[in-house]
Amino acid sequence: MRKTIIAGNWKMNKTVSETKEFLNELLPMIKDVNANVIIATPFTSLTVASELTKNSIVKIAAQNMGNRLKGAYTGEISPLMLKDIDVNYVIIGHSERREYYGDTDFHVNEKVKLALETKLIPILCIGEKLEEREANETKNVVKTQIVEGLKDVSKEDAKNVVIAYEPVWAIGTGKTATPEMAQDVHKYIRDLLADMYGQEVSDEISILYGGSMKPENVVELLNESDIDGGLIGGASLEAKSFAKLIEAGK
Ligand code: G3H
Repeated sequence: MRKTIIAGNWKMNKTVSETKEFLNELLPMIKDVNANVIIATPFTSLTVASELTKNSIVKIAAQNMGNRLKGAYTGEISPLMLKDIDVNYVIIGHSERREYYGDTDFHVNEKVKLALETKLIPILCIGEKLEEREANETKNVVKTQIVEGLKDVSKEDAKNVVIAYEPVWAIGTGKTATPEMAQDVHKYIRDLLADMYGQEVSDEISILYGGSMKPENVVELLNESDIDGGLIGGASLEAKSFAKLIEAGK
């Protein structure tokens, strides 16, 4: 039975003091909720976020990581540094990284493998751009991103990967894929994972939806059989709205 995961991605938002303020407001609201909650903060807030959430249901994620363990790589953060401050998850291949910072499927694959090696859970992001959807290329695009992103990842390790399907045209635009549109791609991804790793492994992998998910549409999206949770940007920045999403995901 797959777990529903409600994951917030703050992107480049919130200082350390704003992080404390947010968590001090959120944690009492979800005290009695039994759900799988992840918050991906900026690097600068990871330490304080992991300390403040230590005895809660919230797990902390980084939004990216370096592709080496240590050395002369100015500006990079090693997965070992993330482990050291109790970070459990790492977002890899978010469309904003692919679009603005040149992360290719090759880099994504390097990072996915290194995350798994260091026992971080990678949240592998995939999704098509508007022109690709309009050209009927959605499934080809996500297939390439998954096959390349998980290249040389063993069956055993694949069970520890979380996939986030985020149609790029739905991110931060207020345009959400309809539950049917999202389910169609999630089912395609599930079948592809079954081809790659077998049905049993595929059935264990959580596939999250991302793209303007909010309290108003979360329930209908989560009702779809292959949508196992959400990767939420804008609606995760305010404690009350994030708490509503968590409530829907329990
Ligand atoms: O990682 C989160 C996604 O990019 C979705 O962002 O909820 O603001 O559309 P959004």
